Amino acid sequence: MTLFYGFILFLLFLFLILILFVNLSILQGFFSAAPWVPLSKKNLVNLIDSLEAEPQEIVYDLGSGDGRILISAVLKYDLKKAVGIEISWFFCFWSKLKIWLNGLKNRIFIKRGNFFKRDISEADIVICYLMPKCLGKLKDKFRKELKPGSKIFSVAFSIPNWQPREVIKKEGCLSIYLYKI
Ligand SMILES: C[S@@+](CC[C@H](N)C(=O)[O-])C[C@H]1O[C@@H](n2cnc3c(N)ncnc32)[C@H](O)[C@@H]1O
Repeated sequence: MTLFYGFILFLLFLFLILILFVNLSILQGFFSAAPWVPLSKKNLVNLIDSLEAEPQEIVYDLGSGDGRILISAVLKYDLKKAVGIEISWFFCFWSKLKIWLNGLKNRIFIKRGNFFKRDISEADIVICYLMPKCLGKLKDKFRKELKPGSKIFSVAFSIPNWQPREVIKKEGCLSIYLYKI
């Protein structure tokens, strides 16, 4: 009996360690640039409709969370390539699992790491759902790496001191700021 309770306690301990690691992993984003706040269904549909992407265009999501934006965009526009950069290993694992279950592993690529340090020059469309301070820090990267004509869709927050090409507003939805390089 003692052995049995010992085993149960051991399992409980493993479970607590797992929960701790998952929470620490989620907090990585919070301390880096933006906490994980996923887009609601309504906002997701509004964003995806606004993209008006072509199948050959390459879409990047900076801080791709559970991959919902990339999966929806690839399914709607039949995109050949979409890339997510995500700092949290838990969300990398979770989004890769969702991508695999949707049969999209040859079209959506999740890179684990800090988006400030990853090359985004191949992107035609960049999606950000990030805090204004972080958007301000990304300006130099956008200027240096993105090619002329590429678009940035920033959900909820505008890029400080940049004039958006368009502000997409829909009743009950977060504003979307569209920029063109
Ligand atoms: C507001 S959430 C957006 C998630 C997803 N794009 C969505 O709309 O559902 C921000 C995400 O950025 C990630 N993140 C924060 N800082 C990061 C960084 N420096 N590099 C990569 N990902 C980061 C967080 O872990 C989080 O998943």
